[in-house]
Amino acid sequence: MQKNRQVVLASYASDAARVENFAMTESPIPQPGEGEFLIRNMYFSLEPAIRGWLDGKANYFPPIPIGGVIRGPSVGRVVASKNADFAPGDIVFALNHWEDYSICHSDAVLLEKLQPHGDTPISYYVGALGGAGATAYVGLHEIGKIQSGQTVVVSAAAGATGSMAGQIAKQRGCTVIGIVGSDEKAKLIVEQFGFDAAINYKTDDIAAAVLAIAPEGADIYFDNVGGPVLNAMLVAMKVYGRIVGCGMISDYNRTENPNPITNLWEVVARQLTMQGFLLFTYHDQVPAAQAQLTEWINQGKIKVIEHITKGIANTPAAFCELMSGKTTGKALVEVDLIELT
Ligand SMILES: NC(=O)c1ccc[n+]([C@@H]2O[C@H](COP(=O)([O-])OP(=O)(O)OC[C@H]3O[C@@H](n4cnc5c(N)ncnc54)[C@H](OP(=O)(O)O)[C@@H]3O)[C@@H](O)[C@H]2O)c1
Repeated sequence: MQKNRQVVLASYASDAARVENFAMTESPIPQPGEGEFLIRNMYFSLEPAIRGWLDGKANYFPPIPIGGVIRGPSVGRVVASKNADFAPGDIVFALNHWEDYSICHSDAVLLEKLQPHGDTPISYYVGALGGAGATAYVGLHEIGKIQSGQTVVVSAAAGATGSMAGQIAKQRGCTVIGIVGSDEKAKLIVEQFGFDAAINYKTDDIAAAVLAIAPEGADIYFDNVGGPVLNAMLVAMKVYGRIVGCGMISDYNRTENPNPITNLWEVVARQLTMQGFLLFTYHDQVPAAQAQLTEWINQGKIKVIEHITKGIANTPAAFCELMSGKTTGKALVEVDLIELT
């Protein structure tokens, strides 16, 4: 008999999440009730934000309880439906769970019926054409108010969101500087993703390096990491510059004791605008972002790198790998469908 394999929380994470914080269980495959539909998950999008739900504290969503299935975005195929808007065979993106089968409904967070284009791999819809691409696009346009000719600095620049943000900013005619954690990633973002320059935050003086390229400072800082990198960028911003608060991964494992920010006065002195955002608030803008990104990818103007882990049982290890900085591009899990279908 087929079962629904699920990854659950075995113990709360206290600093970095470890494989031992997770466990595999099995339950019967759920059946959709009125208004619901059943998804066979194909790809899990591994997201640093999931770390914020693993320690028993509320973090813009309720914490995942011990024994609870891990929440995360996925792309899957509808296999049964009691919802008139979704039919078997439809491919959907939504905030679901790390499990073979998820029950979904019309009000699910980030729910989108996908219209995969020709040769575009479906996996792209969890990354470049999914949350990462849309977050980068909305963040730069809606929050950053990006304009041609500006200097844009992006952190975690070799990652899923950062690599898209940097490439989108290049398409908008900007000078783009990426901040990364290794010389290999620095090489990658310049040679593969077309950034104008790269800074290694572990070895370089970030502010000095930015100001050497853009003496007046950055117009936009797309912040994926917070902490010491944000602190350094505060003294490398142009007057009236905009800081796009996308994420603060350097604090995700330090919830009791986040990295201190000592340069916040620069927000006043430089008359900066600093605004955070969460993609689901701008969900109505995702289709337009996706259409533009699809065009750029098909034209070869934006490159996509994926870090794919196969097998649902390997999801916890893949998530820990993402959080330790060992991945480049979009980290995702390809669920092993063949065993069950
Ligand atoms: N606002 C939203 O709606 C939204 C949506 C999606 C993602 N996000 C945020 O966007 C950020 C990037 O997410 P992603 O999915 O694209 O992940 P990702 O960039 O593919 O992977 C995370 C990267 O963060 C870097 N990192 C890890 N620890 C760090 C530290 N202490 N200091 C500096 N950098 C560190 C690592 O790169 P290095 O090797 O270069 O250090 C790692 O590869 C996260 O903060 C995430 O929460 C926000």
